[in-house]
Amino acid sequence: MNYLIIPLVFFVLFIFYLISRSKRLSFTNPLFWVVAWWIAFYVILKNAILPPLPSSIIQMFMAIITIALFFYITADTQRLKEAIHPVIQFLVNRKFKLPLGLVIIIIPVLVAGKVYFGSQVKIVAPVFGRSIHPAPPTKINYQGKQLILNELENPYRHLETESPLDFQKHVEAGRKVYYNNCVFCHGDTLEGKGIFAHGLNPIPANFADVGTIAQLQESYVFWRVAKGAPDLPDESGPWSSAMPAWEKFLTEEEIWDVILFIYDFTGHNPRARVEHH
Ligand code: HEC
Repeated sequence: MNYLIIPLVFFVLFIFYLISRSKRLSFTNPLFWVVAWWIAFYVILKNAILPPLPSSIIQMFMAIITIALFFYITADTQRLKEAIHPVIQFLVNRKFKLPLGLVIIIIPVLVAGKVYFGSQVKIVAPVFGRSIHPAPPTKINYQGKQLILNELENPYRHLETESPLDFQKHVEAGRKVYYNNCVFCHGDTLEGKGIFAHGLNPIPANFADVGTIAQLQESYVFWRVAKGAPDLPDESGPWSSAMPAWEKFLTEEEIWDVILFIYDFTGHNPRARVEHH
């Protein structure tokens, strides 16, 4: 399927060539053709070649093509004259005063914009095929106790419907746990933008995003909080997560509380537990 693209490219190039030769269709100005060929080459290099070329190679090819087209234009005095005619007209003809003024304004604005946005440091997750939610173990050893993850439930979740006031107390306790321990990485809005986030790869999970806790069962989240990065399988590499294992610092209750808090704050619901009979 992908190989069909090669004859297609040649076909398009051929049509392009025919048009540029045809007397009737030829736009007399060589500048138009030089620009059109330049764009055509760029589009082909960028899209039609598999596997995709690295941008440094594309830049190299485009530099060569630019030089070739430059020689094509300048090799013939008549052609050169024709090519620069519209440019000179644009610069000197009073008819083009307005568009010329716009160009003079727009170019510095574009450059300034590029510099500005280029200097904004963005934190983005790696695009590598890293497994973010690997299959959890079936059971974990939590402070000497065996916990079967399939059967594990948040012991305070039922309070949400049965006793909202008690539930709120656990959420509040979880809030304290969060702002004492998790905020540095996961951030004060739970979006993974804590003060340490810039130094971490992978970056801390963004709990507000539907791709994290909203997809997980609370038992899974418990495993991740209790065991952290050290318990992640190799498939979660090649980077090492900085997520600490909290089992040594937090009690079981504190972990369940902070889990209640992160769901409550973000408005997400944990994924329902699959019943096993
Ligand atoms: C030192 C920085 C750091 C701290 C502190 C930290 N985390 Fe993390 N956490 C991470 C990173 C990085 C990830 C993403 C990589 C991963 O999944 O391990 C993560 C991932 C997670 C995940 C997995 C989310 C998912 O979608 O799989 C949960 C849950 C989590 N953290 C909860 C917490 C809680 C609760 C606390 C506080 C008790 C906490 N974290 C404190 C760095 C941190």
